[in-house]
Amino acid sequence: MRILVAGATGVVGRPLVGALRSRGHQVSALVREESLARAPEADAIVVADVLDREALSAAVSEAQPEVVVHQLTALRDMFDNPPEAFARTARLRTEGTANLVAAARAAGARRLVAQSIAFAAAPNADLAVDEDAPLYVDAPDPGWSATVRAIAELEDQVLNTSAELSGVVLRYGSLYGPGTAYARTGGSAQWVLSGGFPLPEGGAGITSFLHVEDAVGAAVAAVESEVTGTFHITDDEPAQAAQWLPHFARALDAPAPRVIPATTAPQLLGWFMAHQLTSAVGASNARARTELGWKPQRPSWRNGLGEE
Ligand SMILES: NC(=O)c1ccc[n+]([C@@H]2O[C@H](COP(=O)([O-])OP(=O)(O)OC[C@H]3O[C@@H](n4cnc5c(N)ncnc54)[C@H](OP(=O)(O)O)[C@@H]3O)[C@@H](O)[C@H]2O)c1
Repeated sequence: MRILVAGATGVVGRPLVGALRSRGHQVSALVREESLARAPEADAIVVADVLDREALSAAVSEAQPEVVVHQLTALRDMFDNPPEAFARTARLRTEGTANLVAAARAAGARRLVAQSIAFAAAPNADLAVDEDAPLYVDAPDPGWSATVRAIAELEDQVLNTSAELSGVVLRYGSLYGPGTAYARTGGSAQWVLSGGFPLPEGGAGITSFLHVEDAVGAAVAAVESEVTGTFHITDDEPAQAAQWLPHFARALDAPAPRVIPATTAPQLLGWFMAHQLTSAVGASNARARTELGWKPQRPSWRNGLGEE
């Protein structure tokens, strides 16, 4: 198949280009002009910024893809300037997605596969929720509620575009592995190594992790499948912070995280991190297993988190 990968220089996009090519697909990588030096090996490179509607339309029509894959974020700067990274990512998820949908339709693509996140659900009493659980669009933190609203808009655009362009949303769990924040050189790992990443007392917030290779595998499955809809792409073991954070520190040979009162967590960690560690809910991958025919090759974060 002819496939266009948008976000082809990214943590998921780059290995995805290689994985699709190794399965015999003809892959065009969409790359911004300023990032050309980091372009992956691909059958073709097409150049555009997704926020430039006309340039994007020309680039996508040059590639003539049957399937378009959306792996666009601006989260690389998450640790240097979180508000800016989240705001730019929200714009990519709203305006960028609209431009990509329009370009894909104009080029005659028949399928769109897009990255979303599996940690945007509103908290509830479950260990892990399914894809129908309400999103946390009314989170008390304005930054996070804006992020979740952008996610909801992305998903709506991908799933309800037109009869000719079928959509699949892959809600990835918290990515770990090479290039991610949890890689040994990544922002989260460096924070734990410095001893500055505390564990709020109880550590009851739940994270569903996902190895980057499994994110790539799910995108390949979604490209090659005919199913539509939203899927949690997560490992099999949703984990409380009280479990995974001490494990992560041990794997890194870092100091054990110091325990802080849960009430002080938002001031010390920011609202989102405090929420993730104290009250977030995990995500079940049951639907992806049955409908997409995908399952994680790394079923547990215990085998790998902090090791690469
Ligand atoms: N589920 C999760 O946990 C999750 C989800 C997403 C991201 N993250 C974290 O965020 C970090 C980045 O991961 P990622 O793969 O999503 O992001 P990434 O590695 O930064 O890749 C994002 C891609 O989007 C492209 N892009 C950004 N703005 C663009 C624009 N205006 N026009 C065209 N392309 C544009 C980037 O291209 P350029 O090279 O030109 O910038 C890059 O190819 C990692 O640390 C990861 O762990 C985590």
